[in-house]
Amino acid sequence: MAHPPKPLTHRSTARGLYELSEGEIAQLVRGENLAPFLLELATEIERTYHDAHLEPLARTGWTKHGDAFEVMGCASRDYTVVKAIASNPSTASQAVPTVSGYLYAVKTGTNQAVLRCDVPLLTALRTATSTFAVLRRAASAVRTIAVVGAGLEGETHAFVLALLAGQVQHVIFADVDSDKAEHSAHEVAKLLKLHERSTKISISRSPGMDEVYAADAIVTATYGRAPIVQGRRVRPGTFIAAVGADLEGKQELDADVYSKAKFLADDLGQCLRQGELQHAKDPLHLPSSHSSYLGALGLGRVLSVGDFLSHQERFSGRDEAITVYDSTGFSGQDLATVRVLLHMLGSVGWTRKRWPRAMSLWQRLSAGPSTDATTHSSKQPRARRGTRRVARSAKT
Ligand SMILES: NC(=O)c1ccc[n+]([C@@H]2O[C@H](COP(=O)([O-])OP(=O)(O)OC[C@H]3O[C@@H](n4cnc5c(N)ncnc54)[C@H](O)[C@@H]3O)[C@@H](O)[C@H]2O)c1
Repeated sequence: MAHPPKPLTHRSTARGLYELSEGEIAQLVRGENLAPFLLELATEIERTYHDAHLEPLARTGWTKHGDAFEVMGCASRDYTVVKAIASNPSTASQAVPTVSGYLYAVKTGTNQAVLRCDVPLLTALRTATSTFAVLRRAASAVRTIAVVGAGLEGETHAFVLALLAGQVQHVIFADVDSDKAEHSAHEVAKLLKLHERSTKISISRSPGMDEVYAADAIVTATYGRAPIVQGRRVRPGTFIAAVGADLEGKQELDADVYSKAKFLADDLGQCLRQGELQHAKDPLHLPSSHSSYLGALGLGRVLSVGDFLSHQERFSGRDEAITVYDSTGFSGQDLATVRVLLHMLGSVGWTRKRWPRAMSLWQRLSAGPSTDATTHSSKQPRARRGTRRVARSAKT
């Protein structure tokens, strides 16, 4: 059994709040910082599964015509994290992103805010990095990855997996919209080149997605409400990351996949409620609900990622089986992201915004000094160990 590593807790006593826009997050993590950030995040996501103090908050949300607004989060000894995220595929266009939202982290205990930031990039990076963390332990010799659904999630998976999983030689995109597949292939090829990777990128052009079924790993990242992957065509030993089914009613895999697969659930209770497992419950004779993100069901055929990381030997020995990583967005992944981000922000010396000073109503609403007393650190940014200094925030 693996020894639970200590979580990366940020023990800084510095006061104030980091406020980060999407552009500032991109500025922080891109370039030479990106691979170290993602690798640290993968390790922290694994550690967070062993965090005995982690308590998910009840996830809630509203859906309409395929759009969704959800609130999710969790608490541990160091931080409480809440994320409000809207997905609007019905109105998305070149000008309007599919995903928007905000994340808020407070210090547990004092409940003082430490981070407030945009979430689309961070969510895509943490979801893809979580897939990498599972893939590197659950699948061997993955040389070809097919991505079905060339949106933000699919693109990010293609890039992150090709960047981090050293043996990946070829990424194939498939999308109902061939322009999107072309666009994503072009973007990911440019990004990988920037990171000195010569991964081959191509597009599945056969009507039956033959190239997808020939891959060692398949990522499904559509807004699918009906199966797009047929189990009878999936080769034994294929690793499938089912990323798109993260709400009641959504589904990307068919019943033949369920009958052949062993499952790794990012959050077991949540996957039974709103992942692929919501549809596999009956054929696999699983209970209708489960109260924890950890655990094992179906005589070990369905295992939480947390249990898998502790007992990998329980999952091995059936190489002919399809492995499905049921990804619904475990809130611990967001906590892990906050931990790594705050650690990084502390290391590079980015400026915190001061919390507003205590003021009377008169002081706030009269024409006195601004309550939004942002002050800037005189400290120069320090280089982060092992990485080059990133550019300073536009606010500094
Ligand atoms: N598991 C998680 O933690 C997690 C996190 C974020 C988003 N998601 C989910 O991932 C999915 C994708 O999100 P996104 O932001 O990339 O969306 P997006 O709208 O940017 O991209 C979806 C892509 O799928 C394509 N598509 C739709 N149906 C298809 C089909 N049948 N075959 C091939 N391609 C098809 C669309 O043309 C589009 O390019 C959503 O369902 C979202 O809710 C999951």
